[in-house]
Amino acid sequence: MNVLVVGGAGYIGSHCVRQLILAGHRPAVLDNLVFGHRAAVGPEVPFHRVDLGDEEAVGRVLDAERPDVVMHFAAFAYVGESVTDPLKYYFNNSVATLHLLRAMLRRGIRRFVFSSTCATYGVPQGLPIVEGMPQSPINPYGQTKLDVENALKALSKAHGLSFAAFRYFNAAGASPEGGIGEDHAPETHLIPLAIAAAVGQGPPLKLFGTDYPTPDGTCLRDYVHVDDLSRAHFAVFEALATPGASLFYNLGTGIPTSVREVLAAVERATGRPVPVVEGPRREGDPPALYADASKARTELGWQPEYEEIAPIVETAWKWHRDHPHGFADR
Ligand SMILES: NC(=O)c1ccc[n+]([C@@H]2O[C@H](COP(=O)([O-])OP(=O)(O)OC[C@H]3O[C@@H](n4cnc5c(N)ncnc54)[C@H](O)[C@@H]3O)[C@@H](O)[C@H]2O)c1
Repeated sequence: MNVLVVGGAGYIGSHCVRQLILAGHRPAVLDNLVFGHRAAVGPEVPFHRVDLGDEEAVGRVLDAERPDVVMHFAAFAYVGESVTDPLKYYFNNSVATLHLLRAMLRRGIRRFVFSSTCATYGVPQGLPIVEGMPQSPINPYGQTKLDVENALKALSKAHGLSFAAFRYFNAAGASPEGGIGEDHAPETHLIPLAIAAAVGQGPPLKLFGTDYPTPDGTCLRDYVHVDDLSRAHFAVFEALATPGASLFYNLGTGIPTSVREVLAAVERATGRPVPVVEGPRREGDPPALYADASKARTELGWQPEYEEIAPIVETAWKWHRDHPHGFADR
């Protein structure tokens, strides 16, 4: 398949590009590099530095690449910032996505894969989270993703768009082959922050809340390896061949892992203690979020290769050890 990977210079998108190539597909990347890294995409992959909101320029890329499928990873994803600057999020995550979709439909491109998030569930009504549970985001970031999901449903009905919206849980780890990994600035994700703290490249890790009703008092989350996430994106291709397919899948391992368990895995991988500063709970952090991903397993035959936190953290550590300054080292 010819695949246009929008946001393909980012963390998950660049891993997906690599997995697409390994599976025999032909990816091209569109990214404005607001956060992504040019070096995260190999020189053999066509690269278009374009802003998603520039519909004419996006149209020119679609004309040049003639993709069978468009995968859309591009978004802003800082939950706190989405609360203080919601317009930035509505424009980049919702409005710009509508431009992309209109440019696609005008050209008869009708297969779409979308990066949604477990944040669309808000505080879940039960655990593990299943796709049919009510979606009630508690911040603008989650709302922008739910808005796109709803637009996709409408476009599917009206225009026969076939789409899959993947609700990711916590993407983690890095390609075991090396050379690409997580490099966000600022970084807000637990594993890279804990690694940076362990090796003295960052401040002590702030642990928000030690009195949750969980086995060790810290939050439980569902960490899914970035390569496993990526593989789901082409496992769905066959299903997208049906016009008007309207598909929603959770992507997680289904294994709840506490913050303290992640820190222990980082300590084992790095061989160093993670300095920690304990503080009160952070507003808007539910005690536990983990997926029931049996729909993706049954319908797509998707099976995560990584289930335990230790091997996931080891791949993240390998990336950091070999590239202590991220893509700046390349
Ligand atoms: N990382 C996670 O744990 C996680 C969890 C749930 C959902 N998601 C979603 O997955 C997607 C990818 O996440 P990530 O961690 O790889 O993020 P990332 O920031 O590393 O990658 C996003 C990429 O999109 C690009 N981009 C952003 N706005 C753009 C625009 N207007 N035009 C062109 N390119 C633009 C950035 O330059 C970047 O390369 C996002 O949509 C995010 O909301 C991520």
